[in-house]
Amino acid sequence: MTKSSCDTKKDDVTKHYEKQWEDYSEKEVIGRVLNLASVLDSIVSKIPIKHVEQILDLGSGPGIISLRISRVLERNPEIKVIGIDISEKAVKIGRKVVNEMDLGTSIQFIRGDCENLPFQECGYDAVVSNATLNLLEDKNKAFSEIARVTKPEGYVVIGDCIVGKKGCSTEIDSDDNLWSKCVSGAPTMDEFEEYADKAGFEILETRNLTDEVSRLVKNGLWDWPEFTKYNLEYCVFKMRKG
Ligand SMILES: C[S@@+](CC[C@H](N)C(=O)[O-])C[C@H]1O[C@@H](n2cnc3c(N)ncnc32)[C@H](O)[C@@H]1O
Repeated sequence: MTKSSCDTKKDDVTKHYEKQWEDYSEKEVIGRVLNLASVLDSIVSKIPIKHVEQILDLGSGPGIISLRISRVLERNPEIKVIGIDISEKAVKIGRKVVNEMDLGTSIQFIRGDCENLPFQECGYDAVVSNATLNLLEDKNKAFSEIARVTKPEGYVVIGDCIVGKKGCSTEIDSDDNLWSKCVSGAPTMDEFEEYADKAGFEILETRNLTDEVSRLVKNGLWDWPEFTKYNLEYCVFKMRKG
């Protein structure tokens, strides 16, 4: 299919995920939460839950991280999670699933753009995300937005792909579809650290989960064949706002 010159990466990404989530049933949402449990838990376990009331999930899809922390939420009814996603379909399914699970007062979803967060300053104790920041074209803008909405000394836990030590193939640069598939927008480790530093975050911990994500992909639990094909790595970064 030829692409109009007006199409931006963000349009491509939005279309790609509208299509991906369109075919998702509620059963598949729950299936994804269970399949990715090991990775999601590596993110969630780094949030200091006792000191947290408001959590923001960036690129929440239909609520994958939010649903994984629902058991924690049952024990702490004070905690509220907001998931934001650019895909209308993702937001719609997320709302349906949490309403059916009676979690609608703890977890909410809104449609919005991580590069222009529709929230006031310093509203969140913790910000989490899985496999989304790589998709954003202006990562400096996204990091500064995350810093703006995070409370002073708040925590940000990002799980995402980075360019692997073996590097990536040059064919990646010319294939826009690989951007939407979480490949060509992946930063190097140095670039990720620079984005975080510029936005005023201190990286407290970095955990490399490449072997675990490769295992999930190999066993058909994470539909992301490009992860192994392009030698990507996956890390969880725990950061604190200064
Ligand atoms: C690979 S999916 C990950 C979804 C979810 N975090 C998970 O773990 O399954 C990436 C998500 O980021 C969303 N996304 C992409 N660009 C975005 C943007 N600029 N603002 C908000 N969400 C975005 C997509 O719609 C998609 O739901």
